This record gives sequence, C-alpha cells and structure tokens, in this order.
Amino acid sequence: MIGRLNHVAIAVPDLAAAVAMYRDVLGAEVSAPQAVSEHGVTVVFVNLPNTKIELLHPLGADSPIAGFLAKNTSGGIHHVCYEVADIKAARDKLVKSGARVLGDIKTGAHGKPVLFLHPKDFYGTLVELEEV
Ligand code: CO
Repeated sequence: MIGRLNHVAIAVPDLAAAVAMYRDVLGAEVSAPQAVSEHGVTVVFVNLPNTKIELLHPLGADSPIAGFLAKNTSGGIHHVCYEVADIKAARDKLVKSGARVLGDIKTGAHGKPVLFLHPKDFYGTLVELEEV
C-alpha cells in the first residue's frame, strides 16, 4: 500500500538557523518559508535527490508543533510521510485493521490529500500518508 518516502518532517525551534544549517553547511537546496495556516506551521522544504526534509516551525498560538518543541527543546523528528495511490482506500484499510486515524483527510502543505496516523500504532512515530 505505501510507496515512496515523501518526506521526513523535523520540528525546529529556530527556522532561520535551521535553513542556514541545511543550505550553507549541508549544502542542500532549500525553499523559501511557506506559511500553512490551516496546519499551524511555517514550512521550509529541503529538496534532496531521493526525498525531502520538511523543516517545521510553529505558526500561530495553537500550533500543533508548539507542544512538541516544548518537550523537545532542540527540535526533533516530528513525522514521516509515505506516499499512497488512494488515500480513502488506505484510510478504510487502516481503520478496518484497528489503526487509529487522527482526524479527517486534509489538504497538506503540497496541496495534496493527507492523513495522519496515531504514533502509538506505529512504534512511536507519527505517520502521514499523502496521496500522489
Ligand atoms: Co508532512
């Protein structure tokens, strides 16, 4: 069911510092910061040859990233995103198998349908599925 690793998301306490690290020290190609208000984050995409890293920084007062950064003050891996061909079929299969789906299918930072799965069902890792 799952296909390529679409991205790994890393929550960062200082977005400008993280951009400088990835662009200037690691030599990666990074995008301009993009505000995604419906998800409460500002995102910078780091484009790697085989996948992407998303640097996430809180946007707004009730950002879902704020609590994560309060617990992980130097930042940390927030979620991994796998590609699926049919997100509704994927959701139905997961629900049937007893996995906990977090909320509804939403539009992600790339304008594609996404869904989040409970970390307790996936070995401590928040999993995002994106339809491509
Ligand atoms: Co993501």
